[in-house]
Amino acid sequence: MNILLINIKKLVQIETGETKVFRAGKEMSDLHTLDNAWLYIREGNIDSFGEMKNLDKSKLTNISEFTTEIDASGRMVFPSFCDSHTHIVYDGSREIEYIDKIKGLSYEEIAKRGGGILNSAKRLHEASEESLYNQAWERLEEIISMGTGAVEIKSGYGLTTEDELKMLRVIRKLKENSPLTIKSTFLGAHAVPLEYKGRQAEYVDLIINEMIPMVAAEDLADYIDVFCDKGFFTPYETERILMAGMKYGLKAKIHANELDYSGGIQVGVKYGAQSVDHLEYTGDDEIKALLGSETMPTLLPGAAFFLGMIYAPVRKMIDSGLPVAMASDFNPGSSPSGNMQLILSMGCIKYKMLPEEAINSVTLNSAYAMGVSDILGSIAVGKKANLFITKPIPSIEYMPYSFGSNKIDRVILNGEIYA
Ligand code: NIG
Ligand code: FE
Repeated sequence: MNILLINIKKLVQIETGETKVFRAGKEMSDLHTLDNAWLYIREGNIDSFGEMKNLDKSKLTNISEFTTEIDASGRMVFPSFCDSHTHIVYDGSREIEYIDKIKGLSYEEIAKRGGGILNSAKRLHEASEESLYNQAWERLEEIISMGTGAVEIKSGYGLTTEDELKMLRVIRKLKENSPLTIKSTFLGAHAVPLEYKGRQAEYVDLIINEMIPMVAAEDLADYIDVFCDKGFFTPYETERILMAGMKYGLKAKIHANELDYSGGIQVGVKYGAQSVDHLEYTGDDEIKALLGSETMPTLLPGAAFFLGMIYAPVRKMIDSGLPVAMASDFNPGSSPSGNMQLILSMGCIKYKMLPEEAINSVTLNSAYAMGVSDILGSIAVGKKANLFITKPIPSIEYMPYSFGSNKIDRVILNGEIYA
């Protein structure tokens, strides 16, 4: 199907000429737009775009009476959000822990009552692949309707070889059937299972000697992740796991510095991680390590908000010249939402990002954080046509301003009208 969008009030995040893989520092406030525009989508990709006054339909390749024309008067068109960090495959929900938290229980106390990551692991063990698939599929449908066009999904609620493989197979099936662009990440090192309490090194050995080779043998993961933080995995253990993953071509994307200055950021940079994520505890040393690296610092404000934690020093990071991405961290324990529009608002409100910076961080920069910025994250000729048409809105700034409501009217994925 070919689609011609006309009378677009504003075409947002366009790139003409040489495209960027991400924007950093001052450039994060560059957001290129085109007023009163048209956009032509052909065979799944962005074919061309321009100003309405220059639209000459006869020059468009393969345009015919079968081309769908959409009048987007009063509406804006954005590239779809790229959600570069989620744990969308899980069983059920954990609102009991949420109430416990409201009543003042700490994370440790909740874990002692059988809550936390291990709670989800127990439930995942009991759930069938089919049930996990169906639950995840519903979540994917929901995030599509809210503007997401690409998503990274992690394992990490298995914590045994068998259950990690089960999770990754569910992700593979989602990849095969969903219109979303999906990347999968192996996160065997999400928590230490109870059976290995006091024998953490042995669990790390299991990850290295058994899980990684089996994940690689079935080609189930694009990336490898470790929760490198206080009380979870040490930088040394993280190094061992990342090195083992690299042998099988798995690039790192790690959880780091959420609970402390854990050394996770430095380890991630050292091993050429695609991204280091969370980053509430980012100081001068961490910023120095990230500057000039190819690792995308990725913020997960949904988790900081939901858990009532401190917020990453994002203003300082950008002002130091760093790029930043934002993602939802959609998971049952610390961020049970995949609403990237809300993440956009949180970026502006809690991190003091300008709307332009926040939009860059959930499109181009988060596309980079999941290794797809060559094909997604901006409106550029040749990129995949994953985009959304807004409801009538007055300005770009209205997107983060109007927090909590769905500003999206129609979604186009792979050049097809999806919803
Ligand atoms: O990214 N920080 C580690 N893992 C998840 C939380 C997972 C859970 O509580 O189930 C996160 O926030
Ligand atoms: Fe996470």
